[in-house]
Amino acid sequence: MKQLLFPFLSCVMLSAASVLVSCGNFPGTAEVAVPGDPSRFFVRDSLISPGVYYYPEQWPESQWERDFRNMADCGFEFTHFGEFAWSSMEPEDGTFDFGWLDKAVGMAAAQGLKVIMCTPTPTPPAWLTHRHPDVLVVNSSGQRIEHGARQQASWASELYRKYVRRIVTALAERYGDNPAVIGWQIDNEPSHYSFSYDYSENAQRNFRIWLQKKYGDIDSLNHVWGNAFWSQTYNDFSQIRIPNGKVLPGTPNPHAMLDYKRYTADEAASFINMQADILRSIISPGQWIMTNTMPGHSPVDPARMTSLDFLTYTRYLVNGRYSGYGEQGFRISNPDMLGYNNDYYRNIKGVTGVMEIQPGQVNWGKFNPQPYPGAVRLWMYHIFAGESRLVCHYRFRQPLKGSEQHHYGTMQTDGVSLSPGGRDIVRFNEEIKELRRHYDRNSAMPREMAAIRTAILVSPDNRWEMEFQPQSDQWDLYRHTIRYYYALKNMGAPVDIVEEDADFGKYPVIVAPAYIMVDGNLIDRWTEYVSEGGHLVLTCRTGEKDRNAALWEDRLAGPVYGLIGAEELYFDHLPKDRQAHVEFDGKEYSWNNWGEVITPAEGTEVWARHSDQFYKGSAAVLHRAVGKGSVTYVGIDSDDGRLEKAVLRKLYAGEGLDPVYDLPEGVLVEWRDGFFVGLNYTSDRQVLPVPDDAEVLVGEKTVPPAGVCIWKAAK
Ligand code: GAL
Repeated sequence: MKQLLFPFLSCVMLSAASVLVSCGNFPGTAEVAVPGDPSRFFVRDSLISPGVYYYPEQWPESQWERDFRNMADCGFEFTHFGEFAWSSMEPEDGTFDFGWLDKAVGMAAAQGLKVIMCTPTPTPPAWLTHRHPDVLVVNSSGQRIEHGARQQASWASELYRKYVRRIVTALAERYGDNPAVIGWQIDNEPSHYSFSYDYSENAQRNFRIWLQKKYGDIDSLNHVWGNAFWSQTYNDFSQIRIPNGKVLPGTPNPHAMLDYKRYTADEAASFINMQADILRSIISPGQWIMTNTMPGHSPVDPARMTSLDFLTYTRYLVNGRYSGYGEQGFRISNPDMLGYNNDYYRNIKGVTGVMEIQPGQVNWGKFNPQPYPGAVRLWMYHIFAGESRLVCHYRFRQPLKGSEQHHYGTMQTDGVSLSPGGRDIVRFNEEIKELRRHYDRNSAMPREMAAIRTAILVSPDNRWEMEFQPQSDQWDLYRHTIRYYYALKNMGAPVDIVEEDADFGKYPVIVAPAYIMVDGNLIDRWTEYVSEGGHLVLTCRTGEKDRNAALWEDRLAGPVYGLIGAEELYFDHLPKDRQAHVEFDGKEYSWNNWGEVITPAEGTEVWARHSDQFYKGSAAVLHRAVGKGSVTYVGIDSDDGRLEKAVLRKLYAGEGLDPVYDLPEGVLVEWRDGFFVGLNYTSDRQVLPVPDDAEVLVGEKTVPPAGVCIWKAAK
């Protein structure tokens, strides 16, 4: 039998026994358990636990033991089974076969590996969909999605759910008290992939039921949707079809569209919650339940998946789509890809993990470049910095046949030699063991960082509304939001991406980018927040609409004028190749996507003015003190984020919230559990702001492209 090849490693590999001992990230030890708090499932001292996907059903049983041993030797502490294995678990209707899975779990456990067990519901077996084709999704062109890939079954099919309940119950009964199984993943990236939305008759029916429940009577729906125009009025709920641009001569009704997205997110969540509730009723209380969603994937809202213990996410950073910084940036990617999601997912339940990152090239990109040497390790440190408890690679072995054939694994195609990314992973896995030794559970975030912890307020409703009606083909809510995210990261601010259920009072500053849909209650909460000393940053498009996405019968965004100190505003867009300018503190900044022209109310400071166009001299950025705090309104969406950054820096400095750093673009410094994590996403060497008396634990102060440096402050 071939052995694992480690030609590049100077380190001594751990034996399986020592891995067992260091598997302390999981329950059974330490931590005072607080019911409902998912951190009870993890041991703080272990910081983060690395793991990797494995598909026993895809490989000869004779290789499993070797693979698990190699996995443990690589420093992985858990593996991940089953999310696509329905046809192996239930080869025929009602006939279950878990013998092979028992063996795989047992062999993994024997190597000291824990197991995340998954429900296989994204991959219904052929016998099921062949017998019951009505469980299949239908796409926007009316085409039924057939067997042959995955994620073809409709969440809205009651019959499909019946089969799902049966397999989930059987799995839970089988592994619900297996000590090797640390937790459960439901489904896989719940979404319907490229066709995204479901137009099947099951979905049509459930959408109508959802609407009936929401509106009660058809007149209310007609009123909210504005159906009097274009004679869109319905007499009865039974006449309603899912809004679908493919089968309409024009753009669908925007309110119908928004409701359809809300319904779809509810349907996805109910599918996940249903499985979680079954698991919960059977499994032992020490096993956790989560799912792995794709960030920003339109029809899905992780916060609605309330039956889960916590949420994780998946992210593929190098696939020909992201340019990053500098010449080699396309091999390293952009830091928001992980940073923004760390800061969002962590805040849903207080705990998160990253369930999939690539160990090397993917097979599905526009083109598939090699990640830059070190990039995989850089990403792992970024995930660590975001307080993740789990970091899991997709996947251990590169498939030799079947789907995803050219997708790299930790191992090369021989199954036993590390791939280039695999080497990065092993290095991280060793370093994290070393960092655990330096962990001090009494460490607290440095005061100057904690003092500028900032919330960015987001909502899926705003995302869905603007994605359908962007109003300009250059408008992109996510890009608009991350211009502020990067401005905050530039100054070393810890960021929480939160929704309206957050406690606003925890944050000295809240940024609510383009918060288009508001109501009186939210405006009151914002007003109270600033009166009590908070600093609120609102940006263009905020308050244009009510919660039903209707424009107010008022001047544009009228309900927020009192708060931002405006009397009136209108907006402008420019052609793609033109830039207009604003003047802010003696410097000129350009914009192109969105520019608002504001008439300030008396007493409001004007921070920036337009310096060209027919509205030259008019206000573009406002600031006003309210109570003990302030409101800043940025009416511009720039391309390059320079204005956003300058405005935030002025606000923070002016309010005694001193920026900790002024980092170069593409460089981040995060703090977690006593460790400063410096990350270099640029194509150049960078000198990190490591104090002379700091204790450097990993890397050096000067880091190469895709390099990291970890340090601790002097005692
Ligand atoms: C993910 C998916 C995995 C695998 C991977 C390939 O989106 O969840 O199952 O397909 O992509 O990169």
